[in-house]
Amino acid sequence: MTGAGSGIGREVALIYAAEGAKVVVSDMNVPGAQEAVSQIIQNGGKAILVKANAANAEDHK
Ligand SMILES: NC(=O)c1ccc[n+]([C@@H]2O[C@H](COP(=O)([O-])OP(=O)(O)OC[C@H]3O[C@@H](n4cnc5c(N)ncnc54)[C@H](O)[C@@H]3O)[C@@H](O)[C@H]2O)c1
Repeated sequence: MTGAGSGIGREVALIYAAEGAKVVVSDMNVPGAQEAVSQIIQNGGKAILVKANAANAEDHK
């Protein structure tokens, strides 16, 4: 989920995890993304953090 570090992206990531998805929390804001991963794990879900700038193709290789 791109932009999962805050706002709409985080809320969608939390919903995906609650539905049983293993969520890749992706954001260029690492503290926000880490908080999202922690929230998902505390809720019993599964998530990992991938730091990436969606505007930078190199980050997606
Ligand atoms: N159409 C509408 O009614 C409506 C309503 C609310 C928000 N929006 C839009 O939806 C978007 C999200 O809103 P929000 O409130 O969740 O914003 P937000 O700022 O809370 O969340 C955006 C997240 O995306 C991340 N991000 C931004 N650019 C990135 C990039 N290049 N690579 C990786 N991560 C990146 C930020 O670090 C942040 O964590 C915004 O563009 C906002 O303007 C539209």
